[in-house]
Amino acid sequence: MKKILVTGALGQIGSELTMGLREQYGNANVIASSRRTKEGHEELMESGIFEIVDVADGEKLSEVVKKHRIDTIVHLAAILSAVGEERPNQAWNVNMNGLYNVLEIAREEDCAVFTPSSIAVFGDSTPPDNTPQDTIQRPNTMYGVTKVAGELLCDYYYHRFGVDTRGVRFPGLISYKTLPGGGTTDYAVHIYYDALKHKRYTSFIGKGTKMDMMYMPDALDAIVQLLDADPSRLIHRNAFNVTAMSFDPEEIAASIRKKIPEFELDYDVDPVRQAIANSWPNSMDDTAAREEWDWNPKYDLDAMTEDMLAKLGEKLGL
Ligand SMILES: NC(=O)c1ccc[n+]([C@@H]2O[C@H](COP(=O)([O-])OP(=O)(O)OC[C@H]3O[C@@H](n4cnc5c(N)ncnc54)[C@H](O)[C@@H]3O)[C@@H](O)[C@H]2O)c1
Repeated sequence: MKKILVTGALGQIGSELTMGLREQYGNANVIASSRRTKEGHEELMESGIFEIVDVADGEKLSEVVKKHRIDTIVHLAAILSAVGEERPNQAWNVNMNGLYNVLEIAREEDCAVFTPSSIAVFGDSTPPDNTPQDTIQRPNTMYGVTKVAGELLCDYYYHRFGVDTRGVRFPGLISYKTLPGGGTTDYAVHIYYDALKHKRYTSFIGKGTKMDMMYMPDALDAIVQLLDADPSRLIHRNAFNVTAMSFDPEEIAASIRKKIPEFELDYDVDPVRQAIANSWPNSMDDTAAREEWDWNPKYDLDAMTEDMLAKLGEKLGL
């Protein structure tokens, strides 16, 4: 039985993953942590142990890992792409020093580490279509820089110290439970809220901009599947391309119109997030994940839209 610490547990991924892991491993075996408590997350904070941990504070992190005899760290605390461009200094500190602290403690205490990378590791010089697993990575955002360095650091700790590090390059993640934390693909979540509430949406990402995306249940499956994967099959430990679909704003709008025919889309493009989106792939090749640990997502765009509108409608009482 694993004893898991989740950092950044109150974020978009952590808030769902922590509850899923508690179901699988038992409440007592999954310790949630974040920089501070957050309103609206009472169920998570009260259903098991919750610790206040700033990942930039290595001593506190080490104390918590030892106190709970943690053997697996799922490291989700991070500053995302759009916020990272507003506060590059904080993005470097949290994303790099936080990961370094996690890896050092994992080395000392013999823990496995899962941490997500991102499509943000790619840049303008990366082939944008069917982006290969192993390719050019020259990102031009602070978030992307920290994610490339993070992939390399995780590889280093595996090869140099034998730390069992694993990770995927997540695309934009879409969920109805917790709002996204300030990324470039957030429009693909907001569009569903506005479709239900106002039957219209103004997109900050421009017409024709395709990006890879994934529905949260598939993302959670990816984490659990890779954590449990047979290590002898893993060649790309820390940076698996994974994707489930690729679309632009018109295509997600068309999918929404199958359920809400009067839905309207217009644009007010944000130049900062548009520049980030332009530098990311249109669609990724995730063959390595399929071959090395049987990655196989369940939701395409229409299946996601149907579930998202139904669940979000229920949540919003609409
Ligand atoms: N959501 C996506 O679309 C997406 C896509 C690709 C990769 N990822 C990666 O997945 C991971 C989790 O992302 P998310 O979407 O849940 O992000 P999020 O912003 O929703 O959650 C991150 C959490 O970390 C917390 N945090 C920030 N600084 C901290 C610190 N110093 N110490 C402790 N906690 C801190 C925040 O309060 C937040 O609750 C990140 O590494 C992110 O880069 C996410």
